[in-house]
Parts: sequence; structure tokens; C-alpha cells
Amino acid sequence: MQKESFVLKGNICYSQDKDHFRTVADGYLVCVDGISEGVYEELPEQYRNLPLIDCEDQLILPGLTDLHVHAPQYAFRGLGMDLELLDWLNTHTFPEESKYADLEYAKTAYQIFVEDMKNGPNTRACIFATLHVPATELLMDLLEETGMKTMVGKVNMDRNSPDILCEAGAEQSAADTAAWIEDVAGKYRNVQPILTPRFIPTCSDELMRLLKEIQKKYQLPVQSHLSENQGEIAWVKELCPSSAFYGDAYDQFGLFGGDCKTIMAHCVSSSDDEIRRMKERGVYIAHCPQSNTNLSSGIAPVRKFLDEGLRVGLGSDVAGGTVGSVFRAMADAIQVSKLRWRLTDDTMKPLTVQEAFYLGTVGGGSFFGKAGSFDAGYELDALVIDDSNLATPLKLSIPERVERVIYLSDDKNITKKFVGGHQIW
Ligand code: GUN
Ligand code: FE
Repeated sequence: MQKESFVLKGNICYSQDKDHFRTVADGYLVCVDGISEGVYEELPEQYRNLPLIDCEDQLILPGLTDLHVHAPQYAFRGLGMDLELLDWLNTHTFPEESKYADLEYAKTAYQIFVEDMKNGPNTRACIFATLHVPATELLMDLLEETGMKTMVGKVNMDRNSPDILCEAGAEQSAADTAAWIEDVAGKYRNVQPILTPRFIPTCSDELMRLLKEIQKKYQLPVQSHLSENQGEIAWVKELCPSSAFYGDAYDQFGLFGGDCKTIMAHCVSSSDDEIRRMKERGVYIAHCPQSNTNLSSGIAPVRKFLDEGLRVGLGSDVAGGTVGSVFRAMADAIQVSKLRWRLTDDTMKPLTVQEAFYLGTVGGGSFFGKAGSFDAGYELDALVIDDSNLATPLKLSIPERVERVIYLSDDKNITKKFVGGHQIW
């Protein structure tokens, strides 16, 4: 496909760094061959022959990255939110995910997930599917057509799972995974496979060992869950008595950053040793504030992660989270950080709007490379947002308008969406 070159004109806002917006009123965002050439107050001479899309008074913002979402859970979002993690998995999640053995059901449900994601503000996502290879490939096919950039994982789980949703041993799980990877190799432009051991409790040592071999052979990234819930953490201690802490149980198998790009969702109750190891290994944390509230998991110490220089992005964690939009995740991240500050630790200041915006754009986007910013050299993911229906007699600055978009906008405010320089609608 021809990569597009064009200029977007409007009120541009993106993260200069984690503490500051850069805003340019009536500015020019230049895209050449799908890559940003930067943002200008005056359009430089050499770009004046490019097609110009005049967005007038609308806002132009970077696309958002959902660093952690479960596509097969989209169908039951907003249901069964009265349990904690392990009971919620057994009561609601595993029975629902078992339905994806049926390709017709998977098609109906995944079409809804993909259509909704396409209409929303997220341009990139790291997605859990289920253990079923055909349904996972179907999800990848549907996502590919949208033009959004995604990483999708066939889930691995070979123990402590109900018969309806358990692979027949480590060998079978690894063989299915290798067959899936071979099947999708080179097939897509926008979708990549990502290794997805569900979490330590559902993955045997032998499976983890085999997944490391696959990871090395195919040089794949990895995504999983970490230190989300107290019952889960205690269970991992029992299952892996030789591990120093939960994250060490992944690290013992070489599936915890380092030469293996890794996202760990949650990290609500990570110990100092675990945090130190994540930093050493460059592990990405997907902070999922809505899910952590719904499942009563707690509030992750994001201020600490940021102060200590860890890599952090935001996740919806649907259906632990109920809303897919990363704008909502930004607002939730700010709100729960205030509760944490007020109720549990007044040394950790709440997140600012600028920080939350950074996490949802550059923070998560960087897992994909150069994404989430309009600086020159970044892949051009952009949202054009008409906020005129958020009526107010106030005269607002661009940062104030962006803050209101985070808290008040919905998908209908988005008028154009670009991913990697391609206008997807
Ligand atoms: N840990 C293992 N599986 C899951 C899941 O599906 N959702 C959440 N929130 N945590 C998990
Ligand atoms: Fe999750």
C-alpha cells in the first residue's frame, strides 16, 4: 500500500515529555510516507505542494495505545464485577473464553470488538485472544483489515484451568503455538504475534521452558499478568517456592524482559525487588486502573514507577475494565492515584493530566517503536477531534480542551483517525 504524505492543519497537542504538552494553535503536522516530519507554526516551503487537510478549529492529538486488553472478554464487559480476580476468572471469564472453540461465535463476538476499537481513539493495542488457534487467526484477520497496529496473542494455559479451557499438556500447547506462529508468519502488515502465557498459575514449568525456546527461535515479544491480586501472589509463591518473588518466576524462564520484550499487566502489589528487576530488564508495565478498581485489586504505585524510570503504559484490561478507550484509562489513572495519595501514601503525589496523557500515548506507544508522538521520525498516528459539543461559555486554552476531551469525550467526537500515516476512516 502507498504510504500517504499530507499535512494536517489544526490545534495540535502532544507530549513534549512526560510533564509537558507541546501545543501549536493553527499548526501544521506534516506526514511524509507515513512518518511525521514534525509540527510547525508556519508550513515550511518544501511541504507546500503536499495535500492539506484543514481541520479548522478541531484538535489534533496522537493516537492512543491500549497496552493490555482481552478481545474475547469484550462480550461480557460490565457484567460480573462483584468478584475478585481468581473467582471472577473461574466464574465468568473461563466459561466465556471456552466459547471461542466455536468459530461462528468467535466471528460474531470479535467483529463487535474490532468494530468498536476501530471507532474509538486507540490506534494500537496488545491483545490477548484465547487458547484457540483458529479463532485467534480470525481475530488477526479482522484486525488487519482495519489498518490499526496490533499485537495479538494466542493464550497458553495448561494447568489449573477448567477442562473446557485447558490445553492437553505443555507439548500440545507449545506445538499449537509454533503452528500458529508459522501460519501467520509474513501474513500481515499491521498485526504481529506476541507470546501470551496467561499467568504463572495456569502455565506449567515445562510449558514456560518450551515457550522460551519458541520466543528465542522466532524473536517474539511476550505479554502476561503480574502481581495483580493478593490471592494470586500467594498462589504463585506456593506453585514456585524457588522464586524470590512473582516476577522472578517468569525471569527464571527468560520470559521477563532483557532480550525478550515484555509487557506485564497490573503490578499492583509488586515488591521493591520486583520493581528493581523490572527496571533492570526493561519490562513494560501496563497500568490498568479501571480493572484494578472493578476487581478490587488495589492501586498500582505508578508515581513510584515513573520516579524510578520504569516503562509504563495504560491498559483497559477489558473485561476486568469495562471501557476500551484509553482516554478513560487516563482519567481513571489520575483518579485512582489521588485516592492512593489521600488514603494510603501521601508521599506519592497524584498523576497530572500531562503524565496520564504521556502514559496513554508515548508510554504505551513506545512498545511498538516510534509511536505516540508527533516529533519528527514517529509513525503518524493521529486523531482529529471535534469537541464543539462539549459546550461551555468559558474561553479554553488547548491544554484545557484536551483535559476535557480526556474526561468528557466519546467516540462520536473523533472525526478522522490515522494510523501509521494511513487514514483508516
Ligand atoms: N490474570 C490471568 N488471567 C487474567 C484475565 O483474564 N484478566 C485479568 N485481569 N487478570 C488475569
Ligand atoms: Fe488482563
